[in-house]
Amino acid sequence: MAASSGIIILHLFLISVICQCFHASSSRTIISELQILPTNNNILTTTSDKSINTKKEFHGMSLNGHSSSSSNMDHQMDLAMNLFFTINDLKPGNNMSVYFSIKNPLNSPHFIPKEEADSIPFSSAQLPYLLNYFSFSEESPQAKAMGETLKHCESKPLEGETKFCATSLESMLDSAGAVFGSNTRLKVLTTNHLTKPRVELQNYTISGRVKEVSARKIVACHSLPYPYAVFYCHSQESDHKLLKVLLVGDDGGRVEAPAMCHMNTSQWDPSHLAFRALKTKPGESSVCHFFPADNLIWVPSSSALK
Ligand SMILES: *[C@@H]1O[C@H](CO)[C@@H](O)[C@H](O)[C@H]1NC(C)=O
Ligand SMILES: *[C@@H]1O[C@H](CO)[C@@H](O)[C@H](O)[C@H]1NC(C)=O
Ligand SMILES: *[C@@H]1O[C@H](CO)[C@@H](O)[C@H](O)[C@H]1NC(C)=O
Repeated sequence: MAASSGIIILHLFLISVICQCFHASSSRTIISELQILPTNNNILTTTSDKSINTKKEFHGMSLNGHSSSSSNMDHQMDLAMNLFFTINDLKPGNNMSVYFSIKNPLNSPHFIPKEEADSIPFSSAQLPYLLNYFSFSEESPQAKAMGETLKHCESKPLEGETKFCATSLESMLDSAGAVFGSNTRLKVLTTNHLTKPRVELQNYTISGRVKEVSARKIVACHSLPYPYAVFYCHSQESDHKLLKVLLVGDDGGRVEAPAMCHMNTSQWDPSHLAFRALKTKPGESSVCHFFPADNLIWVPSSSALK
């Protein structure tokens, strides 16, 4: 069932907000030869091998004053209220409150080269070895986050879904390429803060025309907490629309954001948070969401903007 795609998005989002406990070191190299990448995208950087950072600090993230340990329903509900909307909300001049997490991309874990990633085991069965390798104790928040990330990556795809986890940029491109067919040239869409973001939650006005990216297939990649960059990527054969929206915040901040709208929610779990947030039922309305700034949305480069 396509039932839980929104839940997964929310869950991934929560775990990456809650454990911002892996830090990149300062050394980084921009992969400039990849023409497909937007020039101002800080996510797509890679580091040399010695720089996988294993700092033990844990920065408990607080959302609306909640502590990092509270992933309770109220907290999820607060977040869901600002995560989900319907396609009808995407009208020029409309106002909506949106939560965009502010993460300093320089502090996020960076991609490591494929050869290096391939030399490090990546499985739950190897977790004790990995904790030792990265010097994390079993009870640490990092250990918990790594365990969850590995579990996510090992879970079966939903019906009609293609999924993979990428532990390097090269493997992400290879696997995304395989989803589209290997000769397809790809481009990436990301949430792009055109001005320096200052607040995480605020009201935005939709500015200008909302454009649709006409791509039959879309591969969405969500970052997962890990000592180096790991992305969970998935593609669904369901009825969806990918839109490009320009948002202007109450503070004047401008954000160019892709929005994913799931158009047919008839098979979704009725208890999905999106329905509670939108006060609708499965099949009654579309469910849309934006993406955190470090997510990567791959589409064929030939996709037209309508
Ligand atoms: C949205 O907010 C802006 C600025 O606060 C305001 O000028 C505008 O009238 C609002 N639009 C709607 C549709 O409420
Ligand atoms: C957004 O606008 C609504 C209505 O004007 C207001 O009640 C709400 O507090 C605002 N939210 C934020 C986060 O500023
Ligand atoms: C939505 O999906 C269901 C089951 O997959 C299908 O029966 C229904 O016709 C679809 N609705 C629309 C409006 O396409």
